[in-house]
Amino acid sequence: MKKTFTFLFALLLAQSCIYAQQSNPLLQHETEITDIIKSMTLEEKVNMLHGKNMFSSAGIERLGIADIEYADGPFGIREEMEPHSWNSLKWETDKATFFPTGSALAATWSKDIAYQYGKAMAIEARLRGKDMILGPAINIQRIPTGGRTYEYLSEDPILSGQLAVGYTLGAQDNKEAVCLKHFALNNQENMRGFVNVNVTERAMREIYLIPFEMAVRDANAYGVMAAYNKVWGRWCSENDNLQNRILRNEWGFRGIIISDWGGTHSTVGAAVGGLDVEMPGNTYMGQALIDSVRSGAVPMEVIDAKVRNLLRVRMAIPAVPKSEANKQVTSQPAQQKIAYEVASKSIVLLKNADNLLPISKKVKTIAVIGDNATRKMAQGGVGAGVKALYEITPLEGLQTALKGKAKVIFAQGYEPKPRARRGQTVNTEEWEKKAEVLKTEAVAAAKKADMVIFVGGDNREVETEGSDRKDINMPFGQEELVEALAAVNPNIVAVMVAGAPVDLRKVNPAVKSLVYSWFNGSEGGHALADILTGKIAPSGKLPFTLPEKLEDSPAYALGVFPQKEQAGSSDVFVDLVNKDKFRAERNAEADYSEGILVGYRWFTTKNVKPMYPFGYGMSYVPFNYADAKAEINGTNLDVTFKLTNAGKMEADEVAQVYIARPDSKVERPKYELKGFKRVAIKAGATENVTISIPIQHLRHWNEFQHAWNVETGKAIIYVGSSSENLPLQTTIEICNSPQ
Ligand code: BGC
Repeated sequence: MKKTFTFLFALLLAQSCIYAQQSNPLLQHETEITDIIKSMTLEEKVNMLHGKNMFSSAGIERLGIADIEYADGPFGIREEMEPHSWNSLKWETDKATFFPTGSALAATWSKDIAYQYGKAMAIEARLRGKDMILGPAINIQRIPTGGRTYEYLSEDPILSGQLAVGYTLGAQDNKEAVCLKHFALNNQENMRGFVNVNVTERAMREIYLIPFEMAVRDANAYGVMAAYNKVWGRWCSENDNLQNRILRNEWGFRGIIISDWGGTHSTVGAAVGGLDVEMPGNTYMGQALIDSVRSGAVPMEVIDAKVRNLLRVRMAIPAVPKSEANKQVTSQPAQQKIAYEVASKSIVLLKNADNLLPISKKVKTIAVIGDNATRKMAQGGVGAGVKALYEITPLEGLQTALKGKAKVIFAQGYEPKPRARRGQTVNTEEWEKKAEVLKTEAVAAAKKADMVIFVGGDNREVETEGSDRKDINMPFGQEELVEALAAVNPNIVAVMVAGAPVDLRKVNPAVKSLVYSWFNGSEGGHALADILTGKIAPSGKLPFTLPEKLEDSPAYALGVFPQKEQAGSSDVFVDLVNKDKFRAERNAEADYSEGILVGYRWFTTKNVKPMYPFGYGMSYVPFNYADAKAEINGTNLDVTFKLTNAGKMEADEVAQVYIARPDSKVERPKYELKGFKRVAIKAGATENVTISIPIQHLRHWNEFQHAWNVETGKAIIYVGSSSENLPLQTTIEICNSPQ
């Protein structure tokens, strides 16, 4: 169907910005804040602009203005640590709910679920007396090997952005600020502390900044964390372009920008470049900042603006009185229920030959095999983890669900190879011997069983902050193990417990059913068991492409990742005022040569077949799509269609809309995700579904004008269940000329 419409795009955009500013809760105490700032000394002001403790920054004691308490990290409130170290205080009350990590949340494809997630995090953060969650972590999953892929949401900006909006609203509606991280282009962990990202302005705007822009513009996020890396030659924490020009002036951000931990690099640069708070110490924004103001290198207005940002957040978030914090254990049943909801909607069914799943009532003996069946994932590796009150493992979940119905036997099957710490060697001979024994035991268990549930994948040591994986191979001999199991038992379900893509070339053909079950939180084992036993139908969809092989993914295909650290190093001033401190600077360049063709945009445009495409995930029921129509309503493009559950049980489907611009004057991906909706449908029922897409999401970044444009002309709208299964198609004419 073709339709023509006219709209005053720029005018409407301007109006929506004005509306956002007026309704911004951060702007409700401006006069009071002005008075407070007038009464403060320079020392009092600067005292607020750096870490007081590892996870707090100071308020103004004299005026009874409380400190800001930060809560690490995005998927559960981190345990309490000593004020100036990473050592645990070993409390009992700080045991929190472990929520499914970022890629699991993203696999739900639901802004509503993200809202619940943010709300649950907020409730637990407040029980601990915290003001600002250091999350959500919303960098784009650029490379499948990325160490923090499990923590980040998706390879797609609209999916990441919608979930970031949901999370932010859920937290901030419940009196807890968020801190979007890491701004920006922190898409790799290798050399993150010094790598310089070279990216086109268009790719930066259309792909990497969108999740941040959406969470700021559509949800008024109160905090942003500057990333460790550099962009276009400037440290993020002193990047005037990113922090002042784009984030504050263009998007209207009114909250605080804090550095990543140890990610500040100068005093004057950071101060004028837009950073508000140096965390966790005061190397640059303590006495050095006072000196810089006194010497005239940093104007007092710059300091006042920062104090204003902090006070805005402080006044928008009521401080939890110290006497009320930590009175009960952090993890509470209402939040545990939300963790279950998220987990049960995140699990992705990739393959189900002979309808092996759900587990048939005829199955009497099940062999659960694999180290990840019993491994807890709340902690491990580098970076924020959760001291979980409890974590139901896959084995525990299955044992509970199958009690009295089938006999569950367990074999570990494989064990993680010990890692060589710096300067140490590891005796792999012993590990190899043990591996043979474990494999033999597992094969014996598989022989005895009607069905095998293999639970493998990665773990939190394999996927970790601080370094990227060398490859995406399944570690610790799992492929050989699965092949050995397949030789004795044809009925294998493989469950991947991982937060990122793994290479499935060996495992996929060896098994009948394949499931992605993520680092899925305190309730992960229950959720998995409920899916496998058919209590609920699977409904998760991949938030990233599962490539056939690593070399197919864009940065690897183009040879621009991994990069090498550049030989030699240069000395730089540590402090621009006190020019007597030097530090050796390390350098590496990350060239984002794939431009806007990130993730599925690359695979679909270049006709590279993935193992499983972005957006893919099966159910236990078939869904039929019919009758797509598109029309313009005000500033939205509404896509409507009929969705039928043609099966015998209630199930959710995530319907997706992708749009192509065939007459575009600029390079475009084959098509791009522009909208999606999770719909619950009763067995046999049909729902009329409408997906509303803001027309401004059809914009592209014009590199010559340095501005957004919405091109006129034809838009082809595809509707379906994944980026590669789009049975419906309709077209509409976009006409944005003023009259
Ligand atoms: C991470 C941040 C985290 C901070 C505090 C840094 O290493 O990059 O995401 O919030 O540490 O733990």
